[in-house]
Amino acid sequence: MNYIDKNAVITGGGSGVGFALAKLLVDGGARVAITGRSQATLDAARERLGENAVAIRGDVASLPDLDALTERVKGEFGTIDALFVNAGIATVTPFESTTEELYDELFAINVKGAFFTVQKLAPLLSTGAGVVLTTSNVNAMGMLDTSVYAAGKAALRSMARSLARELLPRGVRVNAVSPGPIDTGILEIMMTAEAAARFKAERVADNPMRRFGTPDEIARAAAFLAFDATYTTGAELVADGGVTQL
Ligand SMILES: NC(=O)c1ccc[n+]([C@@H]2O[C@H](COP(=O)([O-])OP(=O)(O)OC[C@H]3O[C@@H](n4cnc5c(N)ncnc54)[C@H](OP(=O)(O)O)[C@@H]3O)[C@@H](O)[C@H]2O)c1
Repeated sequence: MNYIDKNAVITGGGSGVGFALAKLLVDGGARVAITGRSQATLDAARERLGENAVAIRGDVASLPDLDALTERVKGEFGTIDALFVNAGIATVTPFESTTEELYDELFAINVKGAFFTVQKLAPLLSTGAGVVLTTSNVNAMGMLDTSVYAAGKAALRSMARSLARELLPRGVRVNAVSPGPIDTGILEIMMTAEAAARFKAERVADNPMRRFGTPDEIARAAAFLAFDATYTTGAELVADGGVTQL
């Protein structure tokens, strides 16, 4: 695809789906700003992406960090054509043992962080720009051990509609991409290797395509929403092998 002269911001762009998206856009000629909390992850990603990538460290749950991100992006790019609100954590815990700290952390990053990422960067969005919120197909499922994560992602799916209404007068579209199980390593961060292996085997068994998706498959869906889906706003593109549809 051709993304020449396009500027994009990808939160959580140093790894997984966000990195695959950054690579897709840079390979197509775009300039991207990637964010995340780990400087080492960002440095490695920046190295692989080359000089059309800018790495900006920050926590999406911190409003001062989001203000700093906005200033830096303004200085680097001036305006942006696509904003990918992709940063997130996927902590899964049994309902009974879920702590207040875990609840607050999930909502602070996945929900509050997403909302204020859009609010802070909105002034930089050009006419015709696309915003893509990364939710999850679990926003429409009742999966064990995911009640807090899924509720946060359902909030994001809802926000795609409301923010689409808010930004419509500016000619900005807002949509949601909802991945199913994608093998990015996020599970291994959030649970033991043994639990991750068991969780993965279950997800493959109950998926109509009998496989995980790839980060690149989600990257292409997100890029489509941001750049090509010019008559689509407030919508959700589910990319999950059909598990919530068939
Ligand atoms: N993989 C799946 O099966 C799956 C399924 C459905 C939805 N998703 C969603 O897809 C998105 C990408 O996940 P992924 O699978 O690609 O996992 P990943 O590789 O862990 O990517 C998540 C990224 O978000 C960043 N991040 C996390 N917390 C942050 C914070 N507070 N501030 C800034 N950056 C933060 C992480 O970097 P740092 O840790 O360095 O901050 C990381 O680069 C997430 O929103 C996830 O919920 C994933």
